[in-house]
Amino acid sequence: MLRDTFQTTTSGLNRNSFPMKLYEKAKRLGIWNPTDIDFSQDVEDWGRMSPEEQNLILRLTSLFQGGEEAVTLDLLPLIQVIAREGRIEEEIYLTTFLFEEAKHTDFFRRFVDEVTKTSDELSQFHDDNYKLIFYQALPEALQALQTDQSPIAQARASTTYNIVVEGMLAETGYHAYFTALERNDLLPSTRKAIWSLKQDESRHIAYGLYLLTRLLSEHEEVWEVIETTINTLTMPALGIISDAFSHYEVVPFGLNQDEFVNYAMMQLQKRYARLQQSRGASLEDIQALAEEEI
Ligand SMILES: [Fe+2]
Ligand SMILES: [Fe+2]
Repeated sequence: MLRDTFQTTTSGLNRNSFPMKLYEKAKRLGIWNPTDIDFSQDVEDWGRMSPEEQNLILRLTSLFQGGEEAVTLDLLPLIQVIAREGRIEEEIYLTTFLFEEAKHTDFFRRFVDEVTKTSDELSQFHDDNYKLIFYQALPEALQALQTDQSPIAQARASTTYNIVVEGMLAETGYHAYFTALERNDLLPSTRKAIWSLKQDESRHIAYGLYLLTRLLSEHEEVWEVIETTINTLTMPALGIISDAFSHYEVVPFGLNQDEFVNYAMMQLQKRYARLQQSRGASLEDIQALAEEEI
């Protein structure tokens, strides 16, 4: 036999665990439906934008769209490792995580098709740094889990996915995009969706931090790979931001490169400090620290 028992037919679910709390939150907040969005005002706004403004929105959308597809496609090996370890509460939460990434991919493609109505090849906007992270580092770190499920491989995958891709890039991109749209009172339905999407992302990052701090508490040696991964990917991640801005003499919507970079670095530093703080901490301490964040 491949298993000798089920947790839910013996001790039950640990509903006080952090992953179950995230799962409860996801069931309340993560159920918005991209298909329900009424884009009529957004279509009007799009029609009034200058070609330069449309170009910037398409560029950002192409980064978001590719990124959401990447995280949808690349998450499964991590879920499989968690399932194999029998961590049922974490896997229950991760079902919402994957569903939400799929929904984000769905949302951006609806925006492209129904608001921009473009048939352009959007990957033309993917510069070298973007390719390094989304075409290479992310799938590589996650696919490595298919043959290596060690704590070190898990930490590398989660640092790449949750700390760099979600924590530095997605969160920063959505924050700045949302702020710029709000400041200019544009694309109201898109803005609303980005708001929901941001909330979903904050749970994903919270899970990643929980996973990394759990790994750190059980295996002190994963610290090195967390640090190396952050050090290797920080420059290309910031490079994605400067690549995007380098195409405009005056960036539309009053968007400012420093704002993006500072926000990304601030989020990274905050998480780095959290990870450092939890080296050698007990699981109870980690749980308490994680709960402070949600
Ligand atoms: Fe997402
Ligand atoms: Fe995410």
